[in-house]
Amino acid sequence: MTRLWGIVLNWIAVGLAEDIPVGTVVPRRVDGLDLAIWRSGLGRFHAWDDRCPHRGMRLSHGFVRGEVLACVYHGWQYNLDGACDYIPAHPDLTPPKTICANTYVCETRNQALWVALGTVNGDVPDIGDRIPIRSLDISCGAPAIARYFDHPQDPLIVLRGKYDLAIALQPSTSRSCFAHVFAGAGQDKKIVSRYVEKLRDELEAA
Ligand code: FES
Repeated sequence: MTRLWGIVLNWIAVGLAEDIPVGTVVPRRVDGLDLAIWRSGLGRFHAWDDRCPHRGMRLSHGFVRGEVLACVYHGWQYNLDGACDYIPAHPDLTPPKTICANTYVCETRNQALWVALGTVNGDVPDIGDRIPIRSLDISCGAPAIARYFDHPQDPLIVLRGKYDLAIALQPSTSRSCFAHVFAGAGQDKKIVSRYVEKLRDELEAA
């Protein structure tokens, strides 16, 4: 469960769908919690604790094989429910159901990737028909960024100034966050990308 501004956040943005190709796994941090985000061979997204139930190796170091995620250390394989269904050293063994990765609800909407760390409550945030631009690492806490843009309690910031932007904040730690940026259709991606770099520099200076 993630709390910011004294409220529980239902959905946290963890990236752009296009940045996680089919068959890959990447690490993400949300409010100090390490996640492994992976995309199965059929293109489905999953968010799990980045910790193998066997001996704690990071699952984000593992590899995707079709619809399973395999740990890089001893090769234990976990199915879409997070349950271990194959142990290479004991190929004839049916692993106990208790061996299971900790999983979270993970959804995509308009090319944005969202995770619910607690009980799902409410719809995935809507960024409209904006298109993905990029993700930026910002050395600044999410609450300070939201205040800067006068969205004091909102992890989804919509700006309609020079450019039409939606910025979904992913608080990584108390002093840093990722900003996943989307822009209205028809805007030049390179120009908008440079503009948000300038915004980042201003935020970090402030
Ligand atoms: S630590 Fe993951 S399989 Fe052993």
